[in-house]
Amino acid sequence: MSAPDDAALVAAARDSATRAYAPYSRFCVGAAVLTADGEIFAAPNIENASYGLSLCAETNAIMAAVSAGARAIARIAVVGYPADAPHTRSLATPCGRCRQIMVEFAPREAGVLLIAPDGSEVREVALGELLPFAFDSDALG
Ligand code: THU
Repeated sequence: MSAPDDAALVAAARDSATRAYAPYSRFCVGAAVLTADGEIFAAPNIENASYGLSLCAETNAIMAAVSAGARAIARIAVVGYPADAPHTRSLATPCGRCRQIMVEFAPREAGVLLIAPDGSEVREVALGELLPFAFDSDALG
């Protein structure tokens, strides 16, 4: 898929980040997933006063897609930035738990788009590069 086709996915991730509920870390994340059927689901991170219960944007977006009936995710976009530095250049990368949840629903070749908050870059990395030797359902026999 070419870059122009990613515009809606990138925009959805960016839009979701503006709705992050992150009063504790003050780090806003937005994620969007494109399903194999062409639908986009997006979500931000949602924190909790019991810090460990905070939920990542990528997981929330995938759960929204799967809850709506999707079972195959083709592409994922992520953006993250400190609330007080929304135009930073740094790329936020998905945490390990989110990578494992991605592997459940997306193939190794799926593109994960890391969006620079300042708009300077959208770097594509294959899910298989982010989580090599992943544990998946094949291992269950
Ligand atoms: N966060 C995400 O939403 N996704 C990640 O992949 C990494 C971290 C959130 C969790 C927490 O609300 C904040 O970013 C700081 O860790």
